[in-house]
Amino acid sequence: MTQFTDLVKERRTAYAIGNNTELSNKEIADRIREVAQEVPTAFNSQTTRLVVLFGEDNVKLWDHILDIQKDVLEGDMWEMMSGVMQGAKAGVGTVLFFEDHDVLDATLGKNERADVYKQHHSANAQYGIWLALTDLGLGGSLQHMNIGFEQGFDKSVKEMFGLPSSYEMIAQMPFGSIEASANPKEYIDSSEQVRVVGE
Ligand SMILES: Cc1cc2nc3c(=O)[nH]c(=O)nc-3n(C[C@H](O)[C@H](O)[C@H](O)COP(=O)(O)O)c2cc1C
Repeated sequence: MTQFTDLVKERRTAYAIGNNTELSNKEIADRIREVAQEVPTAFNSQTTRLVVLFGEDNVKLWDHILDIQKDVLEGDMWEMMSGVMQGAKAGVGTVLFFEDHDVLDATLGKNERADVYKQHHSANAQYGIWLALTDLGLGGSLQHMNIGFEQGFDKSVKEMFGLPSSYEMIAQMPFGSIEASANPKEYIDSSEQVRVVGE
């Protein structure tokens, strides 16, 4: 097994996260910067913007999201997701994944393909950063709680942290030390997932 494959297998969703790490915020931020630089984008347009929040800013973020989502999520969904959001406050930090509309318009233009690429760019970054955090011995989860550009908490979070209005938030990744093993996961049959022609 290669080191890369081990890393891919090690990465799991971790909701129970804490602050038990020897790593400094700078070490974590440096690794995120390094990996973000290498994430591929269509025509090397580099439309993705990441914001890393630590400590009190992380708590401020999740308190705000909890406040907005309590009027949006209902019943079982609120029960489950409010636990995840509360858990996020106990972690080390959160990576916010944005796509910059000014850069998208200037590089890819305003069209359907750009809308698709935007999602692919962010997904590439999300997975790359998740693996980087795993490689640092940290765990986290991937949240997509916002509902679109300038809707829900997209606008207010940008105002809260002084970010450009051209940023669209695509996802949130709270991370920290791993405080519980991951839930069991079901796998579909690999032969159904990957079809090899001419093996
Ligand atoms: C596009 C996408 C959206 C996701 N959205 C959420 C989410 O909103 N909340 C959440 O807890 N997990 C979310 N996840 C995480 C998946 O539920 C999780 O990765 C999956 O169940 C497999 O578990 P694993 O990460 O432990 O391998 C998302 C994952 C992807 C790829």
